[in-house]
Amino acid sequence: MKVCVVGTGYVGLVTGACLAHVGHHVICVDNNEVKVALMQSGRLPIYEPGLLEIVQPAVRAGRLQFTTDLGTAIAQSTIIFIAVGTPALPTGESDTRYVEAVAQGIGAHLTTGYKVIVNKSTVPIGSGNWVQRIIIDAIAARPDLVTANFDVVSNPEFLREGSAIYDTFNPDRIVLGSNSDRAICQMQELYTPIIDRQFAEDASLPPVPIVVTDLSSAEMIKYAANAFLATKISFINEIANICDRVGADVTQVAQGIGLDSRIGSKFLQAGIGWGGSCFPKDVSALIHTAKDYGYEAQLLQAAVKANQRQRLLAVEKLQQVLGILKGKTIGLLGLTFKPDTDDIRDTPALDLMVYLNRLGAKVKAYDPMYVKETHGAQEIPDHVILSATPYQLAEDCDAIVLVTDWRNFRQLNFAMLAERMTTAVMIDGRNCLDPETMAAAGFYCVGIGRPSVGNLLDVTRQSPPAIAQVA
Ligand SMILES: NC(=O)c1ccc[n+]([C@@H]2O[C@H](COP(=O)([O-])OP(=O)(O)OC[C@H]3O[C@@H](n4cnc5c(N)ncnc54)[C@H](O)[C@@H]3O)[C@@H](O)[C@H]2O)c1
Repeated sequence: MKVCVVGTGYVGLVTGACLAHVGHHVICVDNNEVKVALMQSGRLPIYEPGLLEIVQPAVRAGRLQFTTDLGTAIAQSTIIFIAVGTPALPTGESDTRYVEAVAQGIGAHLTTGYKVIVNKSTVPIGSGNWVQRIIIDAIAARPDLVTANFDVVSNPEFLREGSAIYDTFNPDRIVLGSNSDRAICQMQELYTPIIDRQFAEDASLPPVPIVVTDLSSAEMIKYAANAFLATKISFINEIANICDRVGADVTQVAQGIGLDSRIGSKFLQAGIGWGGSCFPKDVSALIHTAKDYGYEAQLLQAAVKANQRQRLLAVEKLQQVLGILKGKTIGLLGLTFKPDTDDIRDTPALDLMVYLNRLGAKVKAYDPMYVKETHGAQEIPDHVILSATPYQLAEDCDAIVLVTDWRNFRQLNFAMLAERMTTAVMIDGRNCLDPETMAAAGFYCVGIGRPSVGNLLDVTRQSPPAIAQVA
């Protein structure tokens, strides 16, 4: 089938590349000329494991193109995806300007013949009808009196950055929301190779379930899924904070409750809070939508509030171990909001940088993926000193906070790391380091909701400060 994907970010580019990989002809459109030129030259504007490996052969086979020309892409396609960003406004509601601009562009360029317009961006409930209205108005404003025939489908995306290709070929379900049977049929045809698991890790599994709904329910499914997962993390973080006070170990508790099939073991890793480009904005948008309709979403508000506090828990723990932070040097190990991505949008590391700086600490940071040159300097505050390696990060640090659980952080030479630090203190913000290994390497290691290991007296060159009273 002939497909156009507007927006080549984490969702649009992965969707376009995967659809081309399974045999469709895909044109990816972006209004960022630099990004498009980069992709046309065979490089990618984002890091996603396995993406380049499917993009390059699809381009060589002539099934995947990149352009800034929306009109030509629309004319050549029967299915048009909208996959542009919907960031949060300061009020918490979703900023739908980019979706609106694309819908207007589609209306301005739609040609005769039936087309399916697919909302893949996460959009507020009711946006399917809104997009349809914008397209109809844009068509009506045209002088050429075209009679365009189209339907709108909501097809929310559930991929996770870091495993986006795997998730696209092995989805738990595909959600299709529309009031048009014709549009749903076309979408099912488009996804047939994925539904039939032709590119799945385990091809013997039954077909991928398709959930066909009305437009609003499909839009709500996306928000409800993210709100549930974010709340589940806030829940285990709350349990971790109680574990800290009563001397229990949250990793053992999570194992004990996660084996209950009603609960499940996923999203039960306690840590220093959730972040990223989706959870914070989607939960805020849902709270905002509820408010618009006269309902106060108290549980979701509590999940957000608990997370805001959790994101500064590492500072509280640093104060308990080091006392005054003014003049101390703190290293942040990992910047991205999760491993295997280069995305630092709304990462907990940003809160830590700002807060530690406010307390007078010197902040250093290292991440295997974050490259200032490609992200621009805007996201990382100027006061943060970026290190080239974890060992350079450790030099003269009074403590390191592990912010992102990159797999290779578990294999670091911790003795070498400890040697370079003023005091070998590690706040393991993701509970991913082995406590015995850390203690053996000479660290005093503080986890989230589990007992600290090591001897503080052994790791400090001066006498240790008094442990601050826990509030
Ligand atoms: N990132 C994720 O993990 C994820 C997962 C599920 C759903 N989503 C949702 O998918 C949507 C896209 O997210 P993303 O992370 O891919 O965003 P992104 O910011 O990485 O990419 C958006 C792209 O759209 C382009 N764009 C903006 N306006 C445009 C226009 N008028 N014409 C053409 N291109 C335009 C931008 O240049 C950018 O390349 C969002 O609504 C998001 O909530 C994201």
